[in-house]
Amino acid sequence: MTTTSPASASPTRPNDSEHRQRVDALATRVLHSGLAEFQDGTAPVNVPVVRTSTLRFASGDDYERLRQRRHDGENVATYGRHGTATHRALEAVIGELEGAAHTLLALSGLSAISLVFLTMLTPGDHALIQDSVYGPVGERIEPLLARLGIDVSYFHAQDGVPHDALRPNMRLVYVESPGSFLYEIIDLPALAAWAGEHGLVAAVDNTWSAGWLHQPLKHGAHVSIQATTKYAGGYSDLMQGTVSTNDATLWQRLRDTHKALGLSVGADDASLGLRGIRTLGMRLAQHALQVAEYLQGEAAVARVFHPALPDDPGHALWKRKFSGANGLVSFALARSSCGPGACVHRRAAALRARDVLGRLRKPRPARARLAAAPVTLLLF
Ligand SMILES: Cc1ncc(COP(=O)(O)O)c(C=O)c1O
Repeated sequence: MTTTSPASASPTRPNDSEHRQRVDALATRVLHSGLAEFQDGTAPVNVPVVRTSTLRFASGDDYERLRQRRHDGENVATYGRHGTATHRALEAVIGELEGAAHTLLALSGLSAISLVFLTMLTPGDHALIQDSVYGPVGERIEPLLARLGIDVSYFHAQDGVPHDALRPNMRLVYVESPGSFLYEIIDLPALAAWAGEHGLVAAVDNTWSAGWLHQPLKHGAHVSIQATTKYAGGYSDLMQGTVSTNDATLWQRLRDTHKALGLSVGADDASLGLRGIRTLGMRLAQHALQVAEYLQGEAAVARVFHPALPDDPGHALWKRKFSGANGLVSFALARSSCGPGACVHRRAAALRARDVLGRLRKPRPARARLAAAPVTLLLF
């Protein structure tokens, strides 16, 4: 049984039976994970919302046993901040999506990204960042790192593995594939292999795929991050992020930072995250190649950015490494297209493009590429 039969006919999935089987198997595993435990032979369909600050213990021995298990690295709770059954269920479901043994919950996608940077870097270190990642990484996290004596540089995904960017103090390479707005796809296995050779942690923002369409950890990444605020949450009523890994050492380091920052997600929000993921496959199946194709046929449109379009520069990689696409499309209006009707749209688009360009603080190649597009309109 699967939840993805509508997607089987979706034009936004690569037409490949291996991909299809993988997504259907994932759908089944996700459907069966994070469920409430049976008690007396029965259980609710959805895991209950378990809210607590202080926990009760049946005895001092029970407290001591749990405290020891937690000390030994097990993900069990002796206090509300450590999470409840609701949090554990969401961690399990994200673990299925990401193919991860360990998942931490964060208060937003940006908070999950900060958690990774703050864990992997210490004063004097350097991070290499793909130039088209989510804007606030440069806008908010880069200045925070600068205060801690950590500097960053940027590279362009489509130039391939950034051999020349390597520095002796580099510790982290951080990417987002497809990248924000331009939807550029990175050759993750090649990048991760290069990172591994040089002792770098390779971290990927996997928000675009929500784990449903792509599992960075299976392609060699050490850490996969999601803003579950977006597709995974799905209903625009939740702020949440996740960090997943299969590396036990990184997990311990991430967990220590997570504890120190007191990143405690509310049980209600954990429950909303679970609810969202139950419909993720069906929602992803509804999108949006038709919109992208329609835009491509419009004279006023100079370029459409969507990796499922066959002439997109990232299409071949997308087809090999992803099992589908979502509904994010952006496009550039041709300058010459500003006829009577198009001008109105163009003004709105220009405002949005200015906003986007303003967010790309540094004069990085991605900014130049966006600026070169006459006007970019972003659809969410
Ligand atoms: C790719 C990507 N990563 C991270 C974030 C940040 O997520 P949040 O808004 O939950 O902080 C976003 C938000 O738009 C995003 O698009």
